[in-house]
Amino acid sequence: MIPELNNPSVCMRDPQRVQEILQSMVKAGSNTVQVISDFDMTLTRFAYNGKRCPTCHNILDNSKLISNDCREQLKKLLNTYYPIEIDSSRSIEEKLPLMVEWWTKAHELLVQQKIKKDLLATVVRESDALLREGYQLLFDHLHEHSIPLLIFSAGIGDILEEVIRQAGVFHPNVKVFSNYMDFDESGVLRAFKGELIHIYNKREGALLNTTHFQELRTRPNVLLLGDSLGDLTMADGVQDMENILKIGFLNDKVEERKQSYLDSYDIVLVKDETLEVPNAVMLYLTGNK
Ligand code: TMP
Ligand code: MG
Repeated sequence: MIPELNNPSVCMRDPQRVQEILQSMVKAGSNTVQVISDFDMTLTRFAYNGKRCPTCHNILDNSKLISNDCREQLKKLLNTYYPIEIDSSRSIEEKLPLMVEWWTKAHELLVQQKIKKDLLATVVRESDALLREGYQLLFDHLHEHSIPLLIFSAGIGDILEEVIRQAGVFHPNVKVFSNYMDFDESGVLRAFKGELIHIYNKREGALLNTTHFQELRTRPNVLLLGDSLGDLTMADGVQDMENILKIGFLNDKVEERKQSYLDSYDIVLVKDETLEVPNAVMLYLTGNK
């Protein structure tokens, strides 16, 4: 049906079920579809030439806006908490308070740095941020077909928006739920706005945004893209969902985590740095037009 589903990076627990979901979505038509995607390590690359690529937070951590001392502390936090994030031997319940701790400590450190709003664009331009190969097709095609794309990220909204703006793909059909910075009247970071979004509370974030999902109630068919098991709840605010196809990037600790990804994502992409498969699915859903 979709030749890319035979790519070596593709794993599916139930290919028959994937086929059924796809057929049902095609039948409903692309005007009933919405896309909900995570950002870091889903729309952006995990690694390039053997080197890890930055998350939204890392773009700031590695920038000249941060003192060396603060950078050290943020690196320490990353080295402590990232292994917990991807530890398959711990339950989500066990990880959740630790992830809140990570985000809270990191945001406190960033706020102490008096980051200036008008320097963010330069920092992003000078960073190693890299969207996955095929991003242009994904964003442009969704725009051309007026399919809404929700980017739902526990990263930093201001940074993420700048990444896609500089890549020329921040089209009007794109909406972002994320952690946004709050600047004082002189443009200096003083806090983060609203409820914190971390890796395991995307369900709560989704439920807070009922108006967005209410506006999209004629689109009960969802294509979900993520790289963490926490991303699976991003669509929990969708009203009267009919079908959902979940595509998950498994970037790291592949052997330990493969089974849990196969159990929860319909299509698992193992160490695949491209958007080839999501794009093939999207083209299929829009009749390859
Ligand atoms: P995502 O929801 O867009 O994937 O963003 C969450 C990622 O951000 C998650 O993989 C952990 C990462 N992160 C950092 O790299 N540094 C930090 O300081 C924090 C709090 C999160
Ligand atoms: Mg992610």
